[in-house]
Amino acid sequence: MSEEAGIEKLIRSDLVNFGGYAASKSPETLAGKVEVPVENIIKLDANENPYGCSPRVNQALANYPDMNIYPDAGQTELRKQLQEYAGVGMEHIVASAGSDQLIDLILRLFVAPGDEVINCVPTFAMFRFFTELCGGTPVEVPRDENFAVKVDAVKAAITKKTKVILLATPNNPTGTIIPRQDILDILDTGVPVLVDEAYYEFTGETVAPLVGQCENLMVLRTFSKWAGLAGLRIGYGLFPAKIADYLLRIKEPYCVNQAALVAVRESLKDIDYLMGTVKAIIAERERLFAELQKLKWLKPYPSWANFILCSVLKGKARELQQELQNKGILVRYFDQPLLRDSIRISVGKPEHTGALIKALQEIGRGLKGAKPL
Ligand SMILES: Cc1ncc(COP(=O)(O)O)c(C=O)c1O
Repeated sequence: MSEEAGIEKLIRSDLVNFGGYAASKSPETLAGKVEVPVENIIKLDANENPYGCSPRVNQALANYPDMNIYPDAGQTELRKQLQEYAGVGMEHIVASAGSDQLIDLILRLFVAPGDEVINCVPTFAMFRFFTELCGGTPVEVPRDENFAVKVDAVKAAITKKTKVILLATPNNPTGTIIPRQDILDILDTGVPVLVDEAYYEFTGETVAPLVGQCENLMVLRTFSKWAGLAGLRIGYGLFPAKIADYLLRIKEPYCVNQAALVAVRESLKDIDYLMGTVKAIIAERERLFAELQKLKWLKPYPSWANFILCSVLKGKARELQQELQNKGILVRYFDQPLLRDSIRISVGKPEHTGALIKALQEIGRGLKGAKPL
């Protein structure tokens, strides 16, 4: 027996064929493989903020004296600072290394092997990833043709084994939001509901004020998108106090690092600047949408977030993604049962839109003979 087969015997059988997550590409891994130098790669594949973080964060980190000290495991100052921004008391707040980590912790808290987690697909792939990682069963409720959540179908999917319902609004990768009344109807079922508001700052719509009033509502936020801190990994969630208390107990003690603590403090002192970049991204999203519509062979879907999903009407999304990559422009492609031949483009700066549209026009000219799907 090979050494590999031997070790597989010891690995959890449900994880032997675990597919992992297709993460976005780091530009440095493409050095020499694309037509442009690495520093000229335009990264529109991970919904990052093209304007970066607040300059205050860079200044504060350049002079930060305590990198040798473990951060506060209780996150006391951080949770106090977040109270005003989030509009709920610190007893409801828990932070983590990116909001991804809180999805993991929440599912670990509720889901044992064999339990079910409801997902409204297509949606954020990490929902399935973490459900499977803790041995849960993802129950996938398809959205309608406009990518709206089907509330009745969600309710019908609930069984005795359902432990959590995961709802992203705006949803990644579709960009759609869930009407407040739909969220309330789903909350009425009594099942714990996680409302992932990673793109909240791009919509201003939130159910955060209901946290604490609703025993089964959890809200997830991040500093990755609006505050340009994806690389530092800092997210937080709003929970009924009892759930927050459990999460604080099961989290890795120092999961939020010192640099992230400084970055949050400084970002919250610079909200006007950061919201200025959010406004610029929203304006650019509308311009990008109009430009994509002109191409005819792409069908962009209206978005409430910092990205736009497009159906590829001529040619293959996988090939389009590869051709753009060769030209030094990174986007994400999807080819799954409910998301056939689609690409997701993160909104960049105006010059990024310009380069993208020029590249798409060039590719489009080569597509003349291609058959529509
Ligand atoms: C819907 C949604 N939730 C959560 C995340 C994770 O964000 P982070 O872990 O960077 O806070 C993302 C990132 O793209 C997302 O799209």
